[in-house]
Amino acid sequence: MTTDAPGVTTGPTHPSDRIDTSVAHPARRYNYWLGGKDNFQADRDSGDAMAAAFPTIRTAALENRRFLQRAVRHLAREAGIRQFLDIGTGIPTADNTHEVAQAVAPESRVVYVDNDPIVLAHARALLTSSPQGATAYIDADLRDPERILAHPDLLRTIDLSRPVGLMLVAILHFVPDGDDPYAVVARLLDALPPGSYLAASHATHDYLPPEIAREAKAASRGDGPHGLINLRSREEFVRFFDGLELVEPGVTSVAEWRADDAPQPRPSVAEVSMYGAVARKS
Ligand SMILES: C[S@@+](CC[C@H](N)C(=O)[O-])C[C@H]1O[C@@H](n2cnc3c(N)ncnc32)[C@H](O)[C@@H]1O
Repeated sequence: MTTDAPGVTTGPTHPSDRIDTSVAHPARRYNYWLGGKDNFQADRDSGDAMAAAFPTIRTAALENRRFLQRAVRHLAREAGIRQFLDIGTGIPTADNTHEVAQAVAPESRVVYVDNDPIVLAHARALLTSSPQGATAYIDADLRDPERILAHPDLLRTIDLSRPVGLMLVAILHFVPDGDDPYAVVARLLDALPPGSYLAASHATHDYLPPEIAREAKAASRGDGPHGLINLRSREEFVRFFDGLELVEPGVTSVAEWRADDAPQPRPSVAEVSMYGAVARKS
């Protein structure tokens, strides 16, 4: 274990040793769709192949990012949440979780987690906390919740006896059923006290003709285990919230979740094909 910068904990090898630019990675492909510069040819090729199957994918990525920001704002402003655990952080861009939360409440504390070495390489941009709050970055895999929950940087940054906003935004579709994403989410929620929240979004095939859904999934298949997207139905998405109270308006397209102030007209549910929801643990 090495520490590259205060608050950034890395694995046994340096992040640059683990960056394989010949294979597309979700964080870099998403960065490409969002118009960022932190991506390589393999990411752009994979992004274009998926856009050929699903031409509104850039709209979907943008709307997902806006959902994340509205969800954080809602949790900070309306629900009074001051601690966030954001797993599947992505490459830092504008209005990251701590910036949105700290704009509402500067004392907000945020732990970021991602397993992509390219995100780790950019992690310093996530450690720009307000002096009153705190941020940390942990290089870990969602499928290993015990490691995340026991991590010293998490325990230093957030108090697990007080409510936490667990953010799983556009990450669960990278976890295949075989890795039991439902058990992973349940384990994480189990460690959080009542009054905590889960905010999640997920790609779906519900509005896509079956051949388009097949093509989009096939386009991500060449990327190896990192990139493969597991589209899920509304029913499958709702299961992640079992035992929680959904916040109004419940499960919607990410583009429609509390989007009254969002730019009009709103894209259609099919153009976005991503569900989003926020729910409270009681
Ligand atoms: C599409 S991006 C979403 C970024 C951000 N949550 C958002 O919605 O704007 C998905 C992120 O999840 C990360 N990721 C995918 N599978 C993961 C896993 N098993 N453990 C940790 N991070 C993972 C990827 O590296 C990527 O940064």
